[in-house]
Amino acid sequence: MKLKIGIIACMAAALWSTAVYAAEDVKLKEGETLFRKHCVVCHPNGGNVINAGKTLKRADLTARGIKAPADIVKKMRAPGPGMTQFDSAKVPDKEALAIAEYVLAAFH
Ligand code: HEC
Repeated sequence: MKLKIGIIACMAAALWSTAVYAAEDVKLKEGETLFRKHCVVCHPNGGNVINAGKTLKRADLTARGIKAPADIVKKMRAPGPGMTQFDSAKVPDKEALAIAEYVLAAFH
């Protein structure tokens, strides 16, 4: 009996983590699609065709204090010279966060 409960608990845990990973994947996929739509022209492969020093690679971002998804959203709302502005009418917060999480996960 104890063994059975143990097995059931393990299966439940495995199913749960699969579901969580799957949800995370969907979000990253959405972020990738939106990134391709809005950002990839200037940031192919996480680079920067206009200002080559300001890439989306992790090391570059951290050097400028961009560490969390919210920091990337802030940049989209108030970009530096040469970058298109993305206000919340163009890219709502939820989509902006999906893009930001994709950027942090994809480019190292
Ligand atoms: C028209 C070209 C262009 C587009 C489109 C664009 N960017 Fe940028 N991006 C730039 C330029 C130029 C900079 C450097 C601006 C500066 O000096 O702050 C930059 C900087 C950044 C930075 C800071 C990088 C660093 O190393 O400091 C982030 C983050 C960023 N962009 C994210 C995005 C995201 C996300 C999108 C899409 C929603 C996007 N950008 C779309 C041109 C663009």
